[in-house]
Amino acid sequence: MAKTGGAAPREGRAGARDRVLPGRGPARAAVPSTRARGRRPQEGTNLIRIAYQARTPRASGAEALVLWLAEGAPAPRWLEAGLRRQVEQCVRLREFGGKPGQVVLLVSEGGRPVVLVGLGKLQAITREALRRAAGHAGKRLRGLAVREAAAAVPELMGAPRKPEPRKPEPHSLDPRMPDLSGGLGEVLAEGLLLGGYAFEAYKRPAAEERDRPRLERVTLYDPARATGAASVKVGVARGAAICLARDLGNQPSNAMTPAALARHARAIARRRGLKCQVLGRGELKRLGLGLLLGVAQGSREEPRLIVMEYRPRGARRTLCFVGKGITFDTGGISIKPALAMDEMKFDMCGGAAVLGAMDAIAALGLPVRVVGVVPACENMPGGGAIKPGDILASYSGKHVEVLNTDAEGRLILADALAYALERFKPDAVVDLATLTGACVVALGHFATGAISNDAAFQEQVVRAGRRAGDPVWPLPNFPEYEEALRGKTADLQNIGPREGGAITAGMFLKQFVGRTPWVHLDIAGTAWGVKGVGHIPNEGATGVGVAILVDLAREA
Ligand code: BES
Ligand code: MN
Ligand code: ZN
Repeated sequence: MAKTGGAAPREGRAGARDRVLPGRGPARAAVPSTRARGRRPQEGTNLIRIAYQARTPRASGAEALVLWLAEGAPAPRWLEAGLRRQVEQCVRLREFGGKPGQVVLLVSEGGRPVVLVGLGKLQAITREALRRAAGHAGKRLRGLAVREAAAAVPELMGAPRKPEPRKPEPHSLDPRMPDLSGGLGEVLAEGLLLGGYAFEAYKRPAAEERDRPRLERVTLYDPARATGAASVKVGVARGAAICLARDLGNQPSNAMTPAALARHARAIARRRGLKCQVLGRGELKRLGLGLLLGVAQGSREEPRLIVMEYRPRGARRTLCFVGKGITFDTGGISIKPALAMDEMKFDMCGGAAVLGAMDAIAALGLPVRVVGVVPACENMPGGGAIKPGDILASYSGKHVEVLNTDAEGRLILADALAYALERFKPDAVVDLATLTGACVVALGHFATGAISNDAAFQEQVVRAGRRAGDPVWPLPNFPEYEEALRGKTADLQNIGPREGGAITAGMFLKQFVGRTPWVHLDIAGTAWGVKGVGHIPNEGATGVGVAILVDLAREA
């Protein structure tokens, strides 16, 4: 039996067990303990396992069945007559029309639940439409009291379809990919894992829920061989890594301290055979990462610089990924207003995306050297905190006047970028950060903003985002935007005018990357708070960025 996909999530689970629990010292006491009742409090998710079979699900005996159907498409030929009639009746009664995002639950005569999920118009089905439809299936299956489900890979390949434009146009109105070639199993497996995700680490189930069966495995049945086990494996590796990034992001800041984030990085490295080095305050001082140290100095939590390296034999290119790891952003002395400040626990989602990407890239054994760097600290207004007007010496040698202590992300990233470029000399570097509220204002929640110093590399990243289903939208990088960052008393100041804030923040980072091809991704709008998308939970971290980085590494 061709079984894929089992491996990565199973490892994910074992990994979750040996993931080091966060919080030694004072933070620990604040984390409610459910351990006494037999649950590990910090474990967010139980990933479902995904398997693949190149045959019909007829004889599978699974407790539930998922059917993805396009508008007006007939039920598959292999479906038993009784169920086929039920599906037809649903369509006739206008209960189900195959519209995107439509989900209808049937119960077969034998008492089996059948989840119908709409794919939209056949000609318009994209990778993203399938990922979302798979996500809807995952969400619906989670709510059912079943352990195993069968899902039928839709038969789309024979359908007349719009061809993929030869040269992708990044500024087209919908930059998502109509091309499905080779990727059907990938997006279905990934969507199922992502839709089946929920962060329940600190919620005890109601009494009547405690013993009900929970979804453990979904098998993709593919009688037409529209996809294959290898494709499913990619989707599983990426989906599991995105769930891992979500787990890291969703943890509260008292559990996900800089030290805890570093321990998670170590656990991933151990599981995947990566190198992992974690620098603490002493080493950062010796090396001179004054911007990272400066931001960290208002907190009792020590900063960390996490450095992970995946180095397969024979790799010729080196990619470097740098992720913002502010485990909580109060704003520091330039303190934020109270409204929704709790959301600033998500300020390490860039770092989480880097950790997730390292996990998936190593799991897939991609033939490229990848270095992941995460500067991690809290931004707090303690007695030792930096104050507006303070001047810090960066790793690069440039001095920075900190006019607003809430513009801290660019400070820690500037040091991490300069350090990573000098030490690893990568061919290209991507940074990811929940960097500016201005980016949320500009782009909302459905596109990640980009600033770059290299049009060709930016095009590659945009393309990876299109494949990955995490759309990336370039912002202008004209030199006029840089001028506002020239310091009055130091080389640079850390803020520009309020207008165009997402751009100036990116242009600040540009001062620290030299000539290395670089793309900055502002994920402030896309890292959490995204609603109504099939494979994304309506609450909490999305895991944005992981898929972009993995697909970029696949193409490198
Ligand atoms: N982490 C925030 C950015 C942010 C705010 C992300 C809201 C998502 C939602 C960042 O550190 C920050 O505070 N940026 C400031 C910059 C300003 C002081 C120039 C901002 O956006 O207000
Ligand atoms: Mn801030
Ligand atoms: Zn921040």
